[in-house]
Amino acid sequence: MLEFPQNFVWGAATSGPQSEGNFKKQHQNVFDYWYQQEPTAFYDGVGPDTTSNFFNDYKEDLLLMKKAGIKALRTSIQWSRLIDDFETASLNAEAVSFYNDVIDTMLANGIEPYINLFHFDMPVELQHKYGGFESKHVVDLYAAFARQCFKLFGDRVNNWFTFNEPKVILDGAYLYKFHYPLKVNGPLSVQVAYNINLASAKAILEFNKLYGSNKEKKIGIILNLTPAYPASESEADKKAANIAELWANKMFLDPAIKGKFPEELVVLLREAKVLWDATSLELDIIKNNTIDNLGVNYYHPMRVQSPDIAANSLQDWMPDIYFDDYEMPGRVMNVDKNWEIYPKSLYDIAINIRDNYENIDWFISENGMGVSNEERFIDETGIVQDDYRIDFMKNHLSELQKGISEGSHCQGYFTWTGIDCWSWKNAYRNRYGLIRNDIHTQVKTIKKSGYWFEKLSKRNGF
Ligand code: BG6
Repeated sequence: MLEFPQNFVWGAATSGPQSEGNFKKQHQNVFDYWYQQEPTAFYDGVGPDTTSNFFNDYKEDLLLMKKAGIKALRTSIQWSRLIDDFETASLNAEAVSFYNDVIDTMLANGIEPYINLFHFDMPVELQHKYGGFESKHVVDLYAAFARQCFKLFGDRVNNWFTFNEPKVILDGAYLYKFHYPLKVNGPLSVQVAYNINLASAKAILEFNKLYGSNKEKKIGIILNLTPAYPASESEADKKAANIAELWANKMFLDPAIKGKFPEELVVLLREAKVLWDATSLELDIIKNNTIDNLGVNYYHPMRVQSPDIAANSLQDWMPDIYFDDYEMPGRVMNVDKNWEIYPKSLYDIAINIRDNYENIDWFISENGMGVSNEERFIDETGIVQDDYRIDFMKNHLSELQKGISEGSHCQGYFTWTGIDCWSWKNAYRNRYGLIRNDIHTQVKTIKKSGYWFEKLSKRNGF
């Protein structure tokens, strides 16, 4: 039996925009808006209204999650739902009462709330008026929203996160066109990266003003870490992997934990004439407001080789002029997602955090397996026989446990996800849940992996 430390947290992760549904919302976020403009950009034409309807069904959904052994739920508060007027951060009463009741219901069911404040869901008005996180004014509006959340729910919520996967915002909205506003602008993505780091630090500043002296209250950020492995031992490939590591991981890890950007990255961006605009006052805020703990979303690593210089010299500055993907022969793939399955990265991440990031407390805040057409695995009892997902979790948990046994401070594992949820442009192309949601009938059924997770969480191991 592989055992985990006492009090290890067994949870599931989701987000407001992917689970709540769009009922009676005052404002749209960028995905609500984009879907309204261009439904065909979304898989099967399915948009953000088609969810597990958490906004109405949260009581039943939480009971079902409890039955699947989920003892903590990481979800998010939608800025576009909670706030009526973004400039003054005035509150929407119905949303306040909804989130209050969700948190109370979680606690009544023994499910610990872990609350995230931004999961790709920029209010579209702020995107259109100011360019979202392109603007430092929006950084301040976000900090005011964060403060409202801390004040409203901080008496009962001990664990907070400022952002989910800021790197994906850069990739999706500013580089590769899978998030609205679908821009392709490398230098702008650099400024947005800086502004999000600043926004996170400003939210932490607000948090510390309210709860700085309360040791039970913690705040962190959630990063999708993708260790970058070089294709070979050649100096050129190692250099490429080093820059990929700076861009994909350290650009957020370092300011969040060490309070400053990696010097190597700053030099590289300055030489390329794309360095962000920063003031010394802002850099002090980043320095003085680091995280208490870290959320790590892990799905796949990066395999990197030195770039095709000739091809890249033709294009405008983009971060990937420094590195190319490498399709390593023999790598194990999740073919439905076209993502490599490589559990050992979790051990590498654990040791990296132990040795290079102050051995900070951390969580797996997402890990899971997305599979298409899961109805093909439903047996005669109506249950999805998702042994592949159980194997995926076992293999990842084994590597994680090894890292913990060697001194890394991982405090919990949140699988993505509890109930199958809507996933941005991919809608329901890949399902990740421990619980199946039939989006036509809204019938929710625990999968084989959910029953396995229940035992895992009860025994604290497998
Ligand atoms: C994570 C995001 O990166 O991946 C989630 O935090 C997302 O919001 C999940 O749903 C799975 O993405 P996809 O595109 O495979 O469904």
